[in-house]
Order: sequence, then structure tokens, then C-alpha cells
Amino acid sequence: MTAILTSHPVVDLALAPLLEPVTFAGLPLASRFVMAPMTRFHSPGGVPAPEVAAYYRRRAEHGVGLLVTEGVWVGHPTAGHEDTVPRMTAGAAEASWRRVVDEVHAVGGRIAAQLWHLGSLREPVDGLAAWTPSGVREPGRPASRAMTVADIDELLESYAEAARVAARAGFDAVEIHAAHGYLLDEFLWPFTNRRTDAFGGSPARRAAFPAAVVRAVRAQFPADRPLIVRFSQFKERRFDARIAETPAELDAILTAFAEAGASALHASQRRFWQPAFPGSGLNLAGWAKRLTGLPTITVGSVGLTRDFLRPGGPESVSGLVQRVAAGEFDLVALGRILLGNPAWVTHAAAGRLDDIVDYRKSHEDTYH
Ligand SMILES: Cc1cc2nc3c(=O)[nH]c(=O)nc-3n(C[C@H](O)[C@H](O)[C@H](O)COP(=O)(O)O)c2cc1C
Repeated sequence: MTAILTSHPVVDLALAPLLEPVTFAGLPLASRFVMAPMTRFHSPGGVPAPEVAAYYRRRAEHGVGLLVTEGVWVGHPTAGHEDTVPRMTAGAAEASWRRVVDEVHAVGGRIAAQLWHLGSLREPVDGLAAWTPSGVREPGRPASRAMTVADIDELLESYAEAARVAARAGFDAVEIHAAHGYLLDEFLWPFTNRRTDAFGGSPARRAAFPAAVVRAVRAQFPADRPLIVRFSQFKERRFDARIAETPAELDAILTAFAEAGASALHASQRRFWQPAFPGSGLNLAGWAKRLTGLPTITVGSVGLTRDFLRPGGPESVSGLVQRVAAGEFDLVALGRILLGNPAWVTHAAAGRLDDIVDYRKSHEDTYH
């Protein structure tokens, strides 16, 4: 595998340690950069349109080592409601994902499928109530169904089926979306999980269903391909929410994932330089790695403006690279900056700041 450095020498930038090939949970990658999962609505009927393959290929071509797809709904009617969000098991979806994977592989990239269920955030467009741990929803929202143990078993089968399809389509890894206030995270969060059975209570018990999903997916996805779990403290609609108040609580949750077969953790936070708990500078990915020993991915406001690339404080490239060099975490995910800058990694590597545009909200309306 050719290092990106070979063709794009670094000019006065300290980015080099992120640009070398690396093996992550057994998967060889061309760089330490990851494309963060981002929902883009280009999959009518749940089937990725042809431009989806070109979109992912372009990022892989330009130095992103591992792509994580946008959230892909598992094949259960309660997983999601929007027509243009991709699914794993709908009609021609498998063949279409196979094309996406082939395009990414053709340029030396690697790609993970993110498996997703919306939980309480599914709209009841067809009269079907959302499935949630305890029926708790935000005030003013329609009632939701507290999942029975039979419902839990049914969903485990949907995740298992999605994992089988992802394996057949050739994905290099799967990522289980257990972050941001969607179903699996609603189990982790005490506010939405009020269960008194084996799936609620202590942090370890709240992790029991997400961990069962990990086990079900692991059993269907080839053992030599990584299974990543994405988790967060914050919810999309509650930035101050937390699944773990202390490192010990986080340990109980992440250990349940590790014991169920997770090979890596993707710790979602909004700003990578912020400490996850008082008393230590470690960020959430840093804590995840320290507690479990598993390789981790960090994310959160990396590279949003060109200022990031000018050596500086903890929120700059210097701070990021220092943390990687110290072994705090292993990979670095880029989200919004890649929307308007598919070639951000190669431009940044070459010090071509003039070729980079700072992130703007309007980039979310473009697709190239
Ligand atoms: C348009 C958009 C769609 C997103 N969709 C998903 C998703 O499907 N799954 C997920 O786990 N995170 C999703 N996220 C969160 C990103 O993966 C990432 O964590 C977040 O944007 C922070 O990284 P950034 O600061 O580099 O953008 C999305 C973010 C954006 C901006």
C-alpha cells in the first residue's frame, strides 16, 4: 500500500503521523483518517443511487483510509421511515452496496457499513408506533411502544440479517450505531431506559440489549473483519445528556461491548479536544481505549476551518497529532469538512490551504 505522503509531501505541516498506513483491529488502512458516517438521502426506496458509489470512492481516492457509510437501516419496519435513507436488505440494496464497496476497493480504500435503528425518533408516518426501551418520548411527541422481550428477539434477528447482507456485499467492517439518542443509545441512557428487567437498571444492564446486538452481528459477520461500536454521551437533541457519569460507569458499558465481541470503539463527541471526565485530559476515545484496550476512533470538529491546519493549541492539528502520537486513540474521523472538500486529506497533506474551503452549513445541501 502506498503511503499518501509519497505523492503529497507535507509542507510545514505536522500531519505526517496521520498519513501513514496503519493496521486497525486487523484491517490494513492507507491512513489514520476515517470518513464519519453522514446521512445524505440519496437512496430512493432504500437503495443507494449510482452517485453514492462515486461519492464514497472520491473520499477514498483522496486519502481517507476507512469510510463509514451513512447510517443504514436494518430491515425491520420500525427502523426508520424516510424513503431516501439507505437500507441494507431492501430489494436491490445488496447489489447496490456491492458496487459501492467495489468502487472504494478499486482505489485502495476500506469501508464499514453503519447499522442503524431510529428508536423513538422514527416518525409514525404509517401509523406504526416507534419502538423504544420504556415508551418514554419527548413531551408533545406521539406515544411509543415499550419493547417486549419478544420485540428484542425480533430486532436481534434484523441486525443479524443486516450483518449477513453486509458480509455478502463485501464490507470490510460493520459499525453498530449506538450513539446520539437513537434506539441502542436510548437503552444506554437512564432517562429513556426505565426498565426493571434484565435490560435496565445499572450501566451494565442498560448495555445488555446493545451488547446482545453486538453478539448477534458478530455471529454473522466474518471473524476476521472488525466490528466497531459507535457510542456518545450527548444526544442529537440533548447535548448535555450522559450515559455514564463516571469512568467506572463507562467501563461497565464498554466492557459489555468488548465481551460481546466488539473489536473497536468509535467515541462520538462534538469537539475532540474536550476532556470526557474531570481530572484527566483524555477525551472520550482516550477513555474508551484506556478502559478496554480496544483500538478507538475519535471525531468532533476536526479541520472545520483552515485555521486548524496552522500549528497551535489543543484544538489544532498540533494538538490532534500529539494525542495520536501519545497513543490516546488510533484513528481520526472527519465529518462535515469532507462534505465540501472530498480531497481535504490530500490538500491538507500537501499544505494546499488555498484549495480547501472552510465548512459551511450549505455544504450539507451539496453532493459530490
Ligand atoms: C449531515 C450529517 C449527517 C450525519 N449522519 C450521521 C449518521 O448517519 N450516523 C452517525 O453516527 N452520525 C451522523 N452524523 C454525525 C457525524 O458522523 C459526526 O460525528 C459529526 O458530524 C461530528 O464530526 P465533524 O465535526 O467532523 O462534522 C451526521 C452529521 C452530519 C453533519
